Amino acid sequence: ERGGFEHFMMKEIHEQPTAIKNTINSLVTNGKVDLSKFEMDEETIKSISAITIVACGSAWHVGMAAQYVIEDIAGIPVRVELASEFRYRGPLLSENHLVIVVSQSGETADTLAALREAKERGVKTLAIVNVVGSSIAREADYVIYTVAGPEISVATTKAYSCQLVVTYLLALEFAAVRGKIEKDLYDKYMAEISRIPECIQKILDDKERLQWFAAKIANSKDIFFIGRGIDYAIGLEGSLKMKEISYIHSEAYAAGELKHGTISLIENGTLVIGLLCQDNLYEKTISNMVECKSRGAYLMGLAPYGRYEIEDTADFVTYVPKMDKHFVGSLEVVPLQLLGYYVSVARGLDVDKPRNLAKSVTVE
Ligand code: F6R
Repeated sequence: ERGGFEHFMMKEIHEQPTAIKNTINSLVTNGKVDLSKFEMDEETIKSISAITIVACGSAWHVGMAAQYVIEDIAGIPVRVELASEFRYRGPLLSENHLVIVVSQSGETADTLAALREAKERGVKTLAIVNVVGSSIAREADYVIYTVAGPEISVATTKAYSCQLVVTYLLALEFAAVRGKIEKDLYDKYMAEISRIPECIQKILDDKERLQWFAAKIANSKDIFFIGRGIDYAIGLEGSLKMKEISYIHSEAYAAGELKHGTISLIENGTLVIGLLCQDNLYEKTISNMVECKSRGAYLMGLAPYGRYEIEDTADFVTYVPKMDKHFVGSLEVVPLQLLGYYVSVARGLDVDKPRNLAKSVTVE
């Protein structure tokens, strides 16, 4: 049942190329997002004045990355909120607000309650859900299904990746309907999105070095993931993967924020993972890595192929294929999933069923 893999998590990591392909195919026809698939009409899309993305855990991390993509490509202001906060905050929502909830299970109590709160306030709701017929799928005004297939491992991988890709397609289509994108650029972005599965496959084919590195860092006390923009959003997910299955304390920081307090935690040998896939932010994050190094940090870098100069700064480097900055996060997250997995295995832990956690959190 684990398809030759030792754990469901590894199986599901390897299913990502297919899961993403299936998700894209379910929403795209002849190189264009097919709106009829989720029944939102063009008038509604044109009327959206703001988007709030609401979710928990990894699904919230999808929102954290998606906000950059949707704002940049579709020009719609996006706010991202934890469902457990949103539901009690009395959020201000305008009439033309769209609330997007993201959930693998479709049963997460806080996310469901947030959805109900939004509906009560009379705004439109769109759910990105993996489980067909789940509560969230049934109650939202519009539903887009991820086609990840059943996810067994408590730590999400393929559902997260499919959710992220759905947000890219939404950004593209919202941009197109609202006249915010030229056809050439739309086609170029679509071509990039279509490359994601094969690029992830390349990362998976090259995973042994990460296993080696994981063994080396398996006794770390703390791990810091630092990056800016989408790199930061991916760092949040990498950090959660690490802590939930390896039980190593880890944090993700917007790299520029480190010096406002957290850098005092960096000492000799502390592992700092610098995420360097946003080209325009590369130098900035490198300089934060150098600051950590001068305080004794041990540095891992994650960058696109071609950025070989990073080897002058980082002690260990992993590369991912080059891709447009909006979508590269889909590649960048994969080595971090693998790293969390390998560290958990190296520590002899129960990868698929980490302590204190359930696959679906149906109580608040
Ligand atoms: C982490 C993880 C959780 C879920 C969160 C939301 O690996 O799986 O953080 O992402 O509990 O669950 P869903 O997506 O089912 O609403």
